[in-house]
Amino acid sequence: DGMPTCDFTIVGATGDLSLRKLVPALYRREAEDQLRPGTRIIGVSRSDLDDDGYRAVVGEALAHHIGDELDPVVVVRLLARVHHLVLDAATPDGWHLLHHLLKEGDPDAVRVFYLATAPALFGPICHRLDEIGVVDPSARVVLEKPIGTDLASARAVNDAVGQVFDEQQIFRIDHYLGKESVQNLLVTRFANTFLEPLWNSRWVDHVQITVSETLGVGERGDYYDGSGALRDMVQNHLLQLLCLVAMEPPTYVGRETVRDEKLKVLQALKPMSADDVDRDTVRGRYGQGLADGVAVPSYTEELGRPGSATETFVALRAEVQNWRWAGVPFYLRTGKRMDRKISEIVVVFKEPPHAMFPHHEGTQPSPAANRLHIQVQPDEGMQLHMTAKEPGPGGIRLRPVSLDLSYATAFDARMPDAYERLLMDVIRGNPTLFMRRDEVEAAWTWVEPILRRWSVTPDRPRRYPAGTSGPTAAATLIERDGRTWQESDHD
Ligand code: BG6
Repeated sequence: DGMPTCDFTIVGATGDLSLRKLVPALYRREAEDQLRPGTRIIGVSRSDLDDDGYRAVVGEALAHHIGDELDPVVVVRLLARVHHLVLDAATPDGWHLLHHLLKEGDPDAVRVFYLATAPALFGPICHRLDEIGVVDPSARVVLEKPIGTDLASARAVNDAVGQVFDEQQIFRIDHYLGKESVQNLLVTRFANTFLEPLWNSRWVDHVQITVSETLGVGERGDYYDGSGALRDMVQNHLLQLLCLVAMEPPTYVGRETVRDEKLKVLQALKPMSADDVDRDTVRGRYGQGLADGVAVPSYTEELGRPGSATETFVALRAEVQNWRWAGVPFYLRTGKRMDRKISEIVVVFKEPPHAMFPHHEGTQPSPAANRLHIQVQPDEGMQLHMTAKEPGPGGIRLRPVSLDLSYATAFDARMPDAYERLLMDVIRGNPTLFMRRDEVEAAWTWVEPILRRWSVTPDRPRRYPAGTSGPTAAATLIERDGRTWQESDHD
């Protein structure tokens, strides 16, 4: 499968992302025999750990995150690959140790540097790697979001990393692109014939994209309060989903072709004027309420910063200004501490052009528009809502029904975590599912006027009780256009 031997260096090796996502993903791939002999995992962090100390940390993380399925034989194999170096990005001290360790390995090993650290360290760490001479032409660097907090800072990060690595060596992760159901979006659209002829302004009334979470900001308050939902979720995950829904078919799935098409969508997003922002965006923040039935504090209480103006919820109306989508609104919403965890895309088709069936008393709801629900998570699947004749001799009565595809029943397979696919793509050198510099910057270009307008408008985010579907203004935003948010029937 083209998988080379690899020295996989994780900077920030004891952090939350490393232990919760990266280490379990590497374990899963080890269990599938995908890691080549000679492949090593080199943890780098400021924690005072030797190899065995870090192996113990990794072992514990696996026990916690893989649980009952953990296979001790696989754990032993994985841990044998693991090393640790105590290094601090802020000082040059000790970095030569990384140079030595890498030189001891397989000379053909592909070097991957995964920066699971605060973005402020991306530039400095790349600089250190350059200083110790470990960046060869086949080396790769992996960056996690957020890349910047606005266009200028994103450019600064990209410039700093770009001084050491070429664009083809830089893998910017948006983990939504690694989700099975997100990859399946392209297959659904372009490996079938029946949808694409309808996938345009002629037949589509509007599109909704919802990413709601029940979690609050928890321990991540320091990061989150400087970010907010627009930067944390919309600039990346939601816009990427929008791109995959709206993009034109590339000629083939290649290193650049999919990203080229996504970029065109970002560039076609209608820029928001100050008036547009006031009319077409809603920001909210959770107050006290419930999370999965348990009483929880408000955002500012959780944070301990009563003065914060950070939003934990955004709803907005976007438009893609091109031939295919002119006039079709894309409604996006995302929030923390909502009533449920669900990520879904709903494509709402237009009403049939002519209503030929008489509307009978008692046949409510009246024949509704067709809708395709694409459930990204949990319970990955798709439902096509349509209208059918209710069985019975008493004439034609219409009833809404749905065609229901559930991954769990259609495929008898474990759904791999997004990181499993993405880490293997980095090692293989396949950048298709990673964000290119121009995409990240185009997304910031669109988001920035919203941030700017919000920063000068006196009104603060609207309060919504934890455990609800967001502020009422979000419902008003879409109802104003004679539409409503579609909640999936699947819970
Ligand atoms: C991250 C955000 O990128 O995505 C988090 O920083 C958010 O705030 C997470 O919780 C959601 O990811 P998932 O895979 O749980 O939908």
